[in-house]
Parts: sequence; structure tokens; C-alpha cells
Amino acid sequence: MIVAIDGPAGSGKSTVARALAAREGLTYLDTGAMYRAVTLACLERGVDPADADAVAEVAKAVRVSFAPGDGGAAPRVLLDIQDVTEAIRTAEVDRAVSAVSAVPAVREAMVAQQRRIAEGHDVVAEGRDIGTVVFPKAEVKVFLSADPEARAWRRAIEREGGDPTAPDAKVHDKKAYKRVLADIKSRDAQDSARDTSPLKPADDAVRLDSTKLTKDETLDAIAALVDQRR
Ligand code: C5P
Repeated sequence: MIVAIDGPAGSGKSTVARALAAREGLTYLDTGAMYRAVTLACLERGVDPADADAVAEVAKAVRVSFAPGDGGAAPRVLLDIQDVTEAIRTAEVDRAVSAVSAVPAVREAMVAQQRRIAEGHDVVAEGRDIGTVVFPKAEVKVFLSADPEARAWRRAIEREGGDPTAPDAKVHDKKAYKRVLADIKSRDAQDSARDTSPLKPADDAVRLDSTKLTKDETLDAIAALVDQRR
């Protein structure tokens, strides 16, 4: 079984996909981490993210894979043999990743790796093009969105080391929140406007808006869809 969860940055895809994987015994595949890892490889090699040919060469040369996290923690992200789990979450990678992932050869290389990782497993995969391109025959497709302000608020709390799902969660640095909001809006615009595999719901995706939902409510809604298809 394949569960595809697509949606914009900060919609809660990762949190929910990870929880769903644990609850339903599925393999979790974070495709955004793969585009982030290629972006990091470009930055480390001094390749300009706007140079599509050079970026494509990097994507073809590297292998992104996952290793189990410690005791239920998120999987570790490996760029060849380098553990890049933390390094791919910087603001620098945030700013460059949309340009890198718009390059068709990068997508081709990543989609091939994603299909290989999923082979023979029941998977919950999250990203932007899972239901439309990577696994068009997925048994369950969800397009998870939320207002940009709600998404930026969650990301800003995470950046401060907090837990946005906690009932008393608060943003302390309002300027940082505004920067995250601007960054999220710009990334959504670039991801939606690109020619190859733009961010958009599959025709047969169930649309879910998590703005006013708790993590558990969102998880229950998606788990109910999975149970219907089991
Ligand atoms: O999911 P996350 O926010 O970590 O994704 C980072 C970036 O990777 C997105 O903004 C998008 O540019 C790219 N991406 C993509 N296709 C996917 C997953 C992520 O283009 N399936």
C-alpha cells in the first residue's frame, strides 16, 4: 500500500506522515529531505543553484538514503555516507532548494531513487508530487494544506526548539516569524509555478486543511482513509 501526502511547506505533512507510519506499520519516506540533500551537496561543492546543468550533474552523482533513527526518532538522512540530517534544515538550504528541485534531471534522479526505496514496502511518502507523479496509483492520496500564517507559526516554533503541537506553544521572536512567513510564501510560489511536477493536488486526492486541526485530528482523518483502503 502507498499513502501519498502532498502539500506546501509547514502544512504538517512530516509530523503526520511519521505518526501515521508508526501507527499503521508503514515505511516513512520524506522526499523533501532528498531534494534538500541534493541542495546541500550543491552548496558544499560551490555549485550555483541557478546553474541547472551543474546542479543536474550533482544530482546524478550523489545517492540519498535513509537509516533508522534511534528509538522511534525520525530517520537519519544520508548523502552518500555523510549524515546530513541536521545540515539540510538550515535557512541557506531553505532558500536554495526550490531552484534545485525545479531542474527536471534532478527530479528524474530523485523519483527513480524514491521508487526504488519504496519497492516491496508499504509506504507513506510525503512531498509535492507524490500523488501526481511519483506514485500516481497510490491507494490513498491526501493534499494537506493550511493558511500560510499557521504554517509559518509552526515552523518558527520548531526553529526556536519548541513543539508547535503543545497547547501553550508560542513564538518568541516575531521578526524570525515574519522571515519564515516570507520564505514559505516564496517557496510555495516557486514550487507551484515550476513546469516540471509543480505542487498541486492530484485530481483524486482528498483535500484536508489543517489550519484549525490538532495533530491528532489530522492524523485520525488520514488514518481513517487508510483503514478504508486496507
Ligand atoms: O518538504 P520540504 O519542505 O522539506 O521540501 C523542501 C523542498 O523540496 C520543497 O520546497 C520543494 O522545492 C522540494 N520538494 C519537491 N518535491 C517533493 C518534495 C520536496 O520539489 N516531492
